[in-house]
Amino acid sequence: MISLPAGAYALVTGASAGIGEEIARSLARRKVPQLLVARSAEKLSALAAELRSASGVAVEAIPLDLEADGAAERLVAATEGAGKPVGLLVNNAGFGWYGPQSEQGLERTLRMLRLNVAALVELTDRLLPPMRARGRGLVLNVASTAAFLPVPYMSVYAATKAFVLSYSQALHEELTGTGIVVTALCPGTTRTDFHRVAGLAPGERVRFPSLSAETVAEAGLRGLARGRAVVVPNLLDSAWIFTGRLVPRAIPPKIAAALFSRLKRAPRD
Ligand SMILES: NC(=O)c1ccc[n+]([C@@H]2O[C@H](COP(=O)([O-])OP(=O)(O)OC[C@H]3O[C@@H](n4cnc5c(N)ncnc54)[C@H](OP(=O)(O)O)[C@@H]3O)[C@@H](O)[C@H]2O)c1
Repeated sequence: MISLPAGAYALVTGASAGIGEEIARSLARRKVPQLLVARSAEKLSALAAELRSASGVAVEAIPLDLEADGAAERLVAATEGAGKPVGLLVNNAGFGWYGPQSEQGLERTLRMLRLNVAALVELTDRLLPPMRARGRGLVLNVASTAAFLPVPYMSVYAATKAFVLSYSQALHEELTGTGIVVTALCPGTTRTDFHRVAGLAPGERVRFPSLSAETVAEAGLRGLARGRAVVVPNLLDSAWIFTGRLVPRAIPPKIAAALFSRLKRAPRD
């Protein structure tokens, strides 16, 4: 069960779509008050209003670009610093890009590092001390199955997710006995806008069984409530991750390269 201290909120980043939206819906079903963050102000406000009226608890929209300088600091000031303690932090906002790294462009690469890594670390770093002071806290970091191996044609994205997994697992151990649980959620292919945003042609994706965003969100929150360090929602993904550990380190990236090099990009950048 997800239970927060009285008066505390869940802060969900990337809540306007996909996995983050489903995490917000799932938390609303559990009557957890929430602060929802993403750039799309209208979508976010509409979702907040819907969940507020369905759950009867406070749900507020905070439109914000987490790639912007100082964004995480401003977000913590507007929540924890404004009398809205964060009992559950869901670091979900993130994006990927398919294609040769030489074509990704430095500007997009740095934006990806800012969102997928720097904003996640900064929010966690700023919110852990008040959680420690309260003796309670929950952090759900959305990584990916791409965290478990180097992925040619998604090289920086996979590396950001490897960072998230490593960082989350290390924190999980460090915080044992403090009342704070940190869980890394590692979805495989999930049916969201992620693939379109990453520049894939419509309908293109690695031919591997996918899950709905709702199933992934539920698996993440269940794993967090059970105090798990790592959650891989799809059993088939767990199987290849396990097998990948049994073969020489050079093999998995070669298989990934064969699969990912075939994917077609949409004509526009
Ligand atoms: N779908 C998959 O197959 C898959 C697999 C493994 C891991 N993941 C991970 O799951 C997480 C959620 O992805 P998704 O599949 O749900 O993708 P999605 O449908 O594209 O949702 C991404 C969310 O992040 C928000 N976001 C993007 N840039 C932002 C920024 N600069 N500031 C604040 N919010 C921002 C988006 O809202 P706005 O555009 O309104 O800002 C949206 O709410 C990501 O971390 C992704 O890497 C996805």
